[in-house]
Amino acid sequence: MSKPRILIARAIFPDIVERLARHFDVEANPLDAIWTGTELIARLHGKQGVFTTGGERIDEGLLAACPDLRICANMAVGYNNFDLAAMTARGVLGTNAPDVLTETTADFGFALLMAAARRISEGERFLREGLWRRWSYDMFAGAEVHGSTLGIIGMGRIGQGIARRGAHGFGMRVLYHNRSRLAPAREAECGARYVDQNELLRSADHVMLVAPYTPATHHLIGAAELALMKPTATLVNIGRGGVVDDAALAAALREGRIAAAGLDVFEGEPRVHPDLLALRNVVLTPHIASATVATRRAMANLAADNLIGFFERNEPLTPLNPEVLTGPGGTRNS
Ligand code: GLV
Repeated sequence: MSKPRILIARAIFPDIVERLARHFDVEANPLDAIWTGTELIARLHGKQGVFTTGGERIDEGLLAACPDLRICANMAVGYNNFDLAAMTARGVLGTNAPDVLTETTADFGFALLMAAARRISEGERFLREGLWRRWSYDMFAGAEVHGSTLGIIGMGRIGQGIARRGAHGFGMRVLYHNRSRLAPAREAECGARYVDQNELLRSADHVMLVAPYTPATHHLIGAAELALMKPTATLVNIGRGGVVDDAALAAALREGRIAAAGLDVFEGEPRVHPDLLALRNVVLTPHIASATVATRRAMANLAADNLIGFFERNEPLTPLNPEVLTGPGGTRNS
């Protein structure tokens, strides 16, 4: 029997490509070309599966043009690159890569918070630019992190990991806001208290955004929300670009309406709003919150496990729309 044909849309760990090649007829992308939508469709011609990394848009147009496609396996926990409704309507399975990145990403949220609040990037840039002549009492004096109030918007697994770090590691008072409230036992374990979003923005010394991007979270934090924050506050976004209105944030940072920000995600990545690039009180990183070697390997292996589990047993590990699995033998065309 011939092997299912899959496309790996970006360069990934070579040994994981080899692992996939033991199960599938694989077209890989070792030179890491960034394909346009049209090129992606052309490469997907006759393929039953695709390994995506979070940047490849899977929408109705692509699905209509690729009738053989049965599964899109994202090497990311976020899946706003998938039009899941269109995939479900066409019987195409989507999978993501949750859990394996939770603690690593929560670590990074804290790293950005520390860097922004304690002005680490700003101080380093000053030093490297040869501007350090003498010590002074208020040089790069920032905001306290330990013992302060942390507000988390988006209390999924990663948000909970950040809450635990704040409450139990840094003695912080932790407030959170989420679409739905956690069970009391989970709140106690995280050391976090549920509040409405405006109260969180008014009370927090540091606001951490871990929300996914959806139509409901588009510009969740814009000028009006930033105006509620303390002028000494920091804002960290490790959720998704578009959750923050980056132009409004740049204006608030420039005018000192909030003190600092740490951003790993941006509207229109990999472009970054030029007003943000011009500011010293924002720490900017290129969407790397889950980027440790071990975690990126775990994410890639989970995406591979999803492809293998789906094609060999009709049992992907982390399906997003499991309803498409109900038919005998799986999804569309079967
Ligand atoms: C990274 O942003 C992810 O969604 O895994």
